[in-house]
Amino acid sequence: MPSTVILGTGSYAPERVLTNAELSTTVDTSDEWIHSRSGIRERRIAAPGETTSDMAVRAAQVADAGVTAADIDLLIVATITPDQPLPAVSCLIQHKLGMRTNTACFDLNAACSGFVYALDTASAMLASGRYRHALVIGAEKLSSIVDWQDRTTCVLFGDGAGAIVLGLSEQPGLGLLGTKLGAYGDCTDLLCITHGGSSNPTTPESIAARDHCLRMKGKEVFKLAVRAMDEAARDILEQHQLHADQIGLVIPHQANLRIIEAISEYLELPMERFFVNVERYGNTSAASIPIALDEARRTGRIKPGDLTLLVAFGAGLTYGSALIRW
Ligand code: ACO
Repeated sequence: MPSTVILGTGSYAPERVLTNAELSTTVDTSDEWIHSRSGIRERRIAAPGETTSDMAVRAAQVADAGVTAADIDLLIVATITPDQPLPAVSCLIQHKLGMRTNTACFDLNAACSGFVYALDTASAMLASGRYRHALVIGAEKLSSIVDWQDRTTCVLFGDGAGAIVLGLSEQPGLGLLGTKLGAYGDCTDLLCITHGGSSNPTTPESIAARDHCLRMKGKEVFKLAVRAMDEAARDILEQHQLHADQIGLVIPHQANLRIIEAISEYLELPMERFFVNVERYGNTSAASIPIALDEARRTGRIKPGDLTLLVAFGAGLTYGSALIRW
């Protein structure tokens, strides 16, 4: 059976840099607090009028896959911040990229694990033999759903997009070797937006209370994130009878440096084997892993033959891991 391989990657981050020092002029915080608790120094913020689809298009356009928009027959966009509730942002992106109308397009919401979920979904669809090339994008404009008056959340998030192109290869043992996905649906209240959906439609009162913004129980999320990511990483390693030491590079969801350090300790794998860019972008949710993957490839951190482990957690709480041989 052919395997699913990553043909190319691309990423985009908006120009505007919002530093911790600048944030400390609008909420009661400091560079010292933010950096020591999260590892974040700065994040990117979309320009006025710049949308999730705009960022996704920029990321896709620089993907070095050697295929054109006309070659793609499947587009999956992982996001929690589509341009609008309806239609799917993937349809807007399809049009902006000039892709064929017989391309299957849909959005996927698994929050920060969204990219790993989308990778697994695209891979299964390609393996069915009914699609040839998939464009998988993680793109977020989190600045549009953050409560800029809530210091416990607004310091953590940023905007950006990452894209990969997937194809099929007859070479055995290459590409996506496996995935492990799951969710703790009993923990939906830890990270959520309570209003603006069908159970609590937006009202003038909900807008005044900023209930359309993201709310998080940070400490609880932290603990479960470490547990879920550790389990997701161990499960996939066990499935493939691998020891952590055989992984060339781990690309974890970039939410908090302390979470990544905890995973490094649990897996007994030194931090040098983890790709970290959270200090420059903050948490870009579904965009975090594809941006990191693109940077890792372009900076030579991934070489042919290497094993890379992706591991994520997000609102839901969802989690996922993926193992890739280059
Ligand atoms: N600046 C200064 N002080 C602050 C800030 C801030 N920005 N935010 C909170 N504080 C204060 C709190 O009010 C609290 O004060 P108190 O003790 O007087 O009550 C104190 O700092 C400590 O707050 P904690 O919440 O205990 O801080 P903690 O060390 O747990 O760090 C953090 C908080 C960074 C949010 C951490 O819990 C975390 O990273 N959690 C995981 C978050 C995460 O990864 N979320 C993304 C999920 S992915 C997705 O799908 C979007």
